[in-house]
Amino acid sequence: MQAVTTEPTSLTTALHTHIVQAIQSAGGWIGFDRFLALALYTPGLGYYAGDLPKFGAMPQSGSDFVTAPELTPLFGQTLAVQVAEALARTGTDEVWEFGAGSGALALQLLEALGDAVRCYTIIDLSGTLRARQQLLLTKYEGKVRWLHALPEQMEGIIVGNEVLDAMPVQLLARHGGDVDGRWHERGVGVEADGAFIWEDRPTDLRPPIDIEGPHDYLTEIHPQAQAFIHTLGDRLVRGAAFFIDYGFGEDEYYHPQRHMGTVMCHRAHQADDNPLLDVGLKDITAHVNFTAMALAAQDQPLPAGQGWSVLGYTTQAHFLINCGLPAKMEQQPLSGRTLAAKLIMEHEMGEFFKVLALCKGEPWEAIGFARGDRTHRL
Ligand SMILES: C[S@@+](CC[C@H](N)C(=O)[O-])C[C@H]1O[C@@H](n2cnc3c(N)ncnc32)[C@H](O)[C@@H]1O
Repeated sequence: MQAVTTEPTSLTTALHTHIVQAIQSAGGWIGFDRFLALALYTPGLGYYAGDLPKFGAMPQSGSDFVTAPELTPLFGQTLAVQVAEALARTGTDEVWEFGAGSGALALQLLEALGDAVRCYTIIDLSGTLRARQQLLLTKYEGKVRWLHALPEQMEGIIVGNEVLDAMPVQLLARHGGDVDGRWHERGVGVEADGAFIWEDRPTDLRPPIDIEGPHDYLTEIHPQAQAFIHTLGDRLVRGAAFFIDYGFGEDEYYHPQRHMGTVMCHRAHQADDNPLLDVGLKDITAHVNFTAMALAAQDQPLPAGQGWSVLGYTTQAHFLINCGLPAKMEQQPLSGRTLAAKLIMEHEMGEFFKVLALCKGEPWEAIGFARGDRTHRL
């Protein structure tokens, strides 16, 4: 395959060398999931381990992309309506946030939820983001804590905004030109000049559903995100989980026409599809297969009464409208309303982002899914 030339800057040289060594010690090839984990999370070097601003509304701030809580505090205030209901329904008083970024969502939730939350726990792979979160949340010292590892047992409401899309995926490539259209795992090797290069190896791995047609096809599978749901299933004794992210159900994910996969990079508010370039200087993500997340939960063998149920699955627009965003928008000046509208507009985040909610034990009627629930489409 064609080599990809990279020109490592001083900032990325150490990370580049680290990944090259990992590839060499693995015999010249690593899966894309490992490459992605190294590029994003290598301590001290990876994109999420470094000091780059990452989140922000405009490239002028040096940021790479904007997330809903960075766009407007109305996001967290509206999600808080659902979290408050879930705390009351499950008789719990703790919130667990995974991948808290700058801490913006934590601040919005803590302010809106008040005394309903006794303890707010943040789990984030990034040490530098943790420092940023601590600075932003000083007011809530005593209520907020940070953990590196999950306790054996947890109770409460889990939230994760754009965390599932940040988990490493494996790449699968079907070569249409081969007899039978054989499947390969796409990984990363190194050229003699040190450039990273795509390399495919035959594999028994397959997408979860058959892809019609004999054409070239590139896609992802999400074993790490599925394992994450399983870990939460094992540890959460009582409570519910709300994941907000971009993605689709598997019929759409593995549609024959979506033949280039969904891996995207974000830098300075520009998207590109080449994760082998500028490694460490940009975010790398893949869309979420929400069917796989729901099945990982539903199929997990857990003792009676301890299993996951799907509470709901819908678009971010339906979810936020159900939780009362329009009334909150009315109290905002025009500039605030304009930003909040992006959360629900179809061509912005409204349709592309989804909310998947799980709960332990019997499902209950959650306000966020009162209208427009799409669980049947998973
Ligand atoms: C795209 S950012 C989203 C940040 C924030 N939630 C927001 O909406 O602005 C992804 C975040 O997930 C964190 N992350 C990725 N994998 C994680 C994991 N397995 N456990 C906890 N945090 C994780 C990253 O360090 C980063 O803070």
